[in-house]
Amino acid sequence: MAGLLSKIDQYLKEDEEADREAVPSPPEDIDAVIGYTPRPLQDWLEQNERRYNYEVMHRRFGKTVMKIRKLMFRAIHCPFERGRFAYMAPTYAQAKDIAWAYLYDYACKVYEHLGVKERDWVDRSELAVYLPTWAGTTSRIRLYGVDSPKQRIRGLYLDGVVFDEFAQIPPSVWSEQVSPMLLDENRRGLDDAGLPNQWADFIFTPFGRNHAYTMFQHAMTWSNGEPVRMVNPDTGFQEEIHDEDQEYFASLLKASETGVLNAKELRKHRRKPGMTQAKYDQEMECSFDAAVEGAIFAQDIEEARAQGRIKRVHWLKFVPVHTAWDLGWDDATAIWFFQVQGDGLRFIDYYEATGAGFEHYASVLADKGYRYGKMYFPHDVENGELGTGKTRRSVLETLGIRVTTVPKHPLPDGLAAVHAILPRSEFDSVRCAEGLDRLALYRRDFDERLQIMKQNPVHDWASHGADAMRTGAMGVSKSLFSGATFEQAAAGVY
Ligand SMILES: Nc1ncnc2c1ncn2[C@@H]1O[C@H](COP(=O)(O)OP(=O)(O)O)[C@@H](O)[C@H]1O
Ligand SMILES: [Mg+2]
Repeated sequence: MAGLLSKIDQYLKEDEEADREAVPSPPEDIDAVIGYTPRPLQDWLEQNERRYNYEVMHRRFGKTVMKIRKLMFRAIHCPFERGRFAYMAPTYAQAKDIAWAYLYDYACKVYEHLGVKERDWVDRSELAVYLPTWAGTTSRIRLYGVDSPKQRIRGLYLDGVVFDEFAQIPPSVWSEQVSPMLLDENRRGLDDAGLPNQWADFIFTPFGRNHAYTMFQHAMTWSNGEPVRMVNPDTGFQEEIHDEDQEYFASLLKASETGVLNAKELRKHRRKPGMTQAKYDQEMECSFDAAVEGAIFAQDIEEARAQGRIKRVHWLKFVPVHTAWDLGWDDATAIWFFQVQGDGLRFIDYYEATGAGFEHYASVLADKGYRYGKMYFPHDVENGELGTGKTRRSVLETLGIRVTTVPKHPLPDGLAAVHAILPRSEFDSVRCAEGLDRLALYRRDFDERLQIMKQNPVHDWASHGADAMRTGAMGVSKSLFSGATFEQAAAGVY
């Protein structure tokens, strides 16, 4: 790899003429070289896409193939030096097992066509390939798994990005990390194929009404030329906002309509062992309403939404705000903020961060300005902090956080406690949105070998919010089961 990088550096340092000699021209017709003929709807999408594209498609539509080809096409037409393109999958394993096979295979066809050595243009350990551009430089396409701590995304710049299976990618990867990388004024405008630079595609099959659904709805309204009613950040008022520069495109393609899979194949797929109507509707008919297979709290959240319990709720100034925590170091620490209201709970806020020390959370709590009541922590708060000789509890208490430890309990009890409190809970639709997305995604996986759902829920970026909720629910409901009133329970009187 060092060889490749220095070679590219060398290309860039030399004057333009030498540059063009050193880097071969890309193939005239890259689709012919890689053997790609778009299916009619793949072609339709490519013709209609804009700078930001939200595309909901059924399984086996050809999403991944189509987007890997797009990355290559856009990479060779990049007008800038060192074009940077990224493909992001929910996990490193997914990026490596599925997309890399397509990308590597296509790239090798290009190298063969150009008569260049694959080893000078491929970096397997980074899941990256380089391609020559019409501008006479090189572009890189790299695959990322957003779960991989080794693949740092921060601090890069990007010319284009594809999020594959975006419904299973934390929305903060887009909002906090990637979207700022696409705001480089010097790399805007159109590329050598006349398409907008600094673009992003979000492709997925639905996974309930989570962040991907919200963003898709928003993009669809703009894509249809209609305004979205939202708070204008400039004025602070609700206003109708238009997509002024027509940068958004959205589409939803169901298996019953695309004709990619024939009717007989679809019927057979529907009847497979382990297939349910809900799973079929979700994956093949792109239904956002279908219950997500294995999702543990999605039903409770859907019910809360249907009953209008997810809305703007205001915190009551003179009522204590309790918090429920899940502690992480390498992964996220999650905190729910709630108040007791009659015999229910009102969740007023949610906070999550990764890699921060306890001081950080103490200052977040202080900044929010709530009057705090109980702070419910999982039993591991009693563990020692590495290298300090103190327990986490004692560190937290020196920061003014009065810890209530919720005893270790069997997982099913914790889940049952959450199921018990959710039907009597309200949520602030804005401040709890992230937490609700996490809860909705908390799920069990299907064990293909045993053909049953696995016992333990998936541990991923979505599970910390659910774990914090479980701790809070156990905390408040412990005394409920021992006959205390709900107020006493929430106040931690056992
Ligand atoms: N334009 C195309 N021509 C031929 N085969 C295609 C085309 N697009 C996709 N395929 C094939 O269809 C299958 C599904 O493609 P894939 O991109 O993995 O689907 P998805 O990501 O939507 O589930 C793969 O076997 C792929 O090789
Ligand atoms: Mg795919």
